[in-house]
Amino acid sequence: MDTMRDKPIKFSSSVFCLIILLSVYNSTAELRRLVQPPKSDGTLSFLVVGDWGRRGSYNQSQVARQMGKTGMNLNIDFVISTGDNFYDDGITSPYDCQFQDSFTNIYTAPSLQKPWYNVLGNHDYRGNVDAQISPILKDFDCRWVCLRSYVVNAGN
Ligand SMILES: *[C@@H]1O[C@H](CO)[C@@H](O)[C@H](O)[C@H]1NC(C)=O
Repeated sequence: MDTMRDKPIKFSSSVFCLIILLSVYNSTAELRRLVQPPKSDGTLSFLVVGDWGRRGSYNQSQVARQMGKTGMNLNIDFVISTGDNFYDDGITSPYDCQFQDSFTNIYTAPSLQKPWYNVLGNHDYRGNVDAQISPILKDFDCRWVCLRSYVVNAGN
């Protein structure tokens, strides 16, 4: 997907807990679980963004600032990225400075310092997919969660 589509979405429902089952098996052959607890009122709020990694250009920085404001107003719990995280050709390795230039140093607003659940787009597959799903990126920026796919197990 090549067009910029950055739409904040708020989901408020009586979700008790959103459990994300990873579709990769670990050594004990059980699905890893990421648990995203709800707020005390039972709700979860999040933003969804895709097609973003442009080192701040193509209005990425402006969109990031607006996400920061909206994220604060909605008191978001996490961000979902639908892919095409790094243009044009993904990243080359976990040490590719695009990770800092297009992610860490762009989404700096306090409200965006939450888990980011990322998947990969066609532009990401043009680069090194293993780099984006590497645990090394979480050491660089603890927000980063990237997998090929997820199974979402939510209450309501
Ligand atoms: C950035 O946004 C402005 C205002 O909407 C627009 O005029 C401009 O073309 C955009 N720049 C790029 C590179 O997309």
